[in-house]
Amino acid sequence: MVAFMSVKGEFSVLVAERVDLPGDIMTLSLTAPEGQTLPPFSAGAHVDVRVNSTVTRQYSLHGDPADPRAYQIAILKDPASRGGSAALHDGVRTGTALRIGAPRNHFPLAMDANFSLLVGGGIGITPMIAMAHALHAAGRDFRLHYCVTGPEKAAFTDVLSAASFADKVVINYDRSDAAPAFDPTRDLPAATDGMHIYCCGPTGFMDWILGAAEAQGHAKHCLHREDFGAEVDQSGTAFTVEAQRSGKMVEVVDGDTIAKALARIGITVDVSCEEGVCGTCLTDVIAGEIDHRDQYLTDEEKAEGTMMLVCCSRARSPRLVLDL
Ligand code: FES
Repeated sequence: MVAFMSVKGEFSVLVAERVDLPGDIMTLSLTAPEGQTLPPFSAGAHVDVRVNSTVTRQYSLHGDPADPRAYQIAILKDPASRGGSAALHDGVRTGTALRIGAPRNHFPLAMDANFSLLVGGGIGITPMIAMAHALHAAGRDFRLHYCVTGPEKAAFTDVLSAASFADKVVINYDRSDAAPAFDPTRDLPAATDGMHIYCCGPTGFMDWILGAAEAQGHAKHCLHREDFGAEVDQSGTAFTVEAQRSGKMVEVVDGDTIAKALARIGITVDVSCEEGVCGTCLTDVIAGEIDHRDQYLTDEEKAEGTMMLVCCSRARSPRLVLDL
């Protein structure tokens, strides 16, 4: 364990540099407080950044995984921010101390692929940059497509143009009033054994790219997506949640979440993505029927019915008893 890491796995870092880029994006270079080496990470990994006592947000690491001196993250200021990206944009400066979690990777690279196609839409380019570093260092064959609506939103063109793998990068400006510069129905390479395709960006963008790839015969297990930003339907019939250890009950109405309802009665559950992808809010279920709406648990774990993600999942039964 790194000396400055706490038992919860969080540790302090300093913002060595904040750079504001086009498209309401800021990049932060994070270093250990006394210049220690940071925990290693693999391409595709992200870190949880603590926003306040109960909220964290996940950001992909886009630096070179071979460089342990600093983590690079990029934060898009979301106009619909629920207190995460906007708070960080407003509160973080060069020199600010932040708490972050150790890198985790739900979006790993298959380093033995014959060819890797990396497609990043907007801020979704960030994990692709780390992947490109790793593939380039390993001498693997790949191509990186950066899809963005225009130069005024293209925060990463300078980084990509200066990268050691710049000759593998294609920048696509996809204006809404013109045909897409990168169209997967036209521009995907033909499916071959050992080819992997990675995509990160808005949900509709990923569906478009990977749906076209599947339709063209690319093997499903070779198609990979990063699901930050997944939209979760939180509508449904009201139900009651009983927090058994706390001896408290609360009603969860249509459009509400269990985590928010519990917070109103003083029971705090840590949340991060609030979209059912990270697992931070995993909670044991003692009784009741769960309406799973996350993308974190496996089908087998969902069928067991003994745990749930309370940031997004709901109940099919009128009452749910949680081990809280
Ligand atoms: S906070 Fe990420 S799954 Fe609930």
